[in-house]
Amino acid sequence: MDSILVRGGRRLQGEVVVSGSKNSALPVLISSLLTAEPCFYQNIPDLKDVHTTLRLLTGLGVKIKRESHSGKPSQLSLRADSITELKAPYDLVKTMRASFLVLGPLLSRFGQATVSTPGGCAIGTRPVNLHLKGLTQMGASIELVHGYVQARAKRLYGTRIYLDLPSVGATENLMMAATLAKGTTVIENAAKEPEVTELASVLNKMGAKIDKPGSDTVTIEGVDVLGGVSHCLIADRIEAGTYLVAAALTDGEVVVRGARSDHLDSFLMKLKETGVTVSDEGNAIKVKGSGRGKSVDIVTLPHPGFPTDLQAQMMALMAVADGVSVITENIFENRFMHAQELKRMGGNIRLEGKRAIVKGVQSLSGATVMATDLRASVSLILAGLVAKGVTEILRVYHLDRGYEHIEQKLSGLGADIERLKH
Ligand code: UD1
Repeated sequence: MDSILVRGGRRLQGEVVVSGSKNSALPVLISSLLTAEPCFYQNIPDLKDVHTTLRLLTGLGVKIKRESHSGKPSQLSLRADSITELKAPYDLVKTMRASFLVLGPLLSRFGQATVSTPGGCAIGTRPVNLHLKGLTQMGASIELVHGYVQARAKRLYGTRIYLDLPSVGATENLMMAATLAKGTTVIENAAKEPEVTELASVLNKMGAKIDKPGSDTVTIEGVDVLGGVSHCLIADRIEAGTYLVAAALTDGEVVVRGARSDHLDSFLMKLKETGVTVSDEGNAIKVKGSGRGKSVDIVTLPHPGFPTDLQAQMMALMAVADGVSVITENIFENRFMHAQELKRMGGNIRLEGKRAIVKGVQSLSGATVMATDLRASVSLILAGLVAKGVTEILRVYHLDRGYEHIEQKLSGLGADIERLKH
């Protein structure tokens, strides 16, 4: 298994280009199941989760053509005109929970679907009750058999659905299902993340009638059939935020090209509060460090609140900031696994339920550390960038799920980082 070695102490400088959004790519690729016509997508990142999605879709009978010269994703054509299988197997759903999103599209277009339940994961229990409740309200009959959700519905019917939580996945699944339902579906307390809006705009290009995506209440008027689409994906706001934190941590000066400040509002406000200079340069955001940053408190919330996917990275920044920071994680119940590893690097962090109290230290010291999820892994790399000596991060397969060419991108900015092939 590969590991990553970081020798700390370099100030990051220069420009880095953000890849296409992982959390957009997964539902958008899955939405191709809703039509028999070809769908063409650009700016698809070359990531493990994208490969898993393509494997899942291939297994269902979707024809996939890579259009880029390198043979890697980036430009892909998908065509779901001869679906042969209506089942998403356990081995794929357990590797990547977003696989569960095939349920809505398969059910609404083909009248049935069998999808493995995802089970728990490293950051929390992450149930799918809201997905299932919504589909049931739309008229699906749902049974749980041998760990699989078996769903049937001759036709789904539009209805009013209230989500107890603004779940990103449930909003996406139900929105996709509703595009081909009979009548109008209203999703109340819907998720407002940019990736939800992006999916809706792809679906609307395919002929769906989705009104006010990105707001609390989304209305979907069902249509009989959807057509093909050509779409270029938005940049990954979480990847962008990660490089902005890297610049702040190393007192660097970095331009993150492709980053959109309208997608990162609450995060950028917090970053500015630490003392760094943040400037919006049109299609890029620039961060300039100003010595040791100040501690700030962070509370993760659904969008437009502070994103949980940037909490671990901010904890690395707070670990060396001046003062005490209270970080409250409201979205996932077990998302502080990185804290223990940051402590091994000399961080002064105390966990109290869903709060982490981080007292900034003057410096961290490199260590061998192990990550348990994607964002935890990257926070350890960030910590390694400022730690004294060498940090070795084990289990980097988590990282490969969500960060395209991270070693190349960071070394392009001057970091001393390499991947060790074991
Ligand atoms: C998506 C993102 C993930 C991000 C998360 C929150 C993708 C592929 N992943 O995950 O990176 O961290 O949004 O911004 O886009 N919940 C329920 N019942 C449900 C569904 C969710 O209780 O039926 C709970 C979850 O356990 C969690 C919270 O709601 O505590 C938020 O989950 P959700 O918004 O659904 O996250 P995902 O779509 O899984």
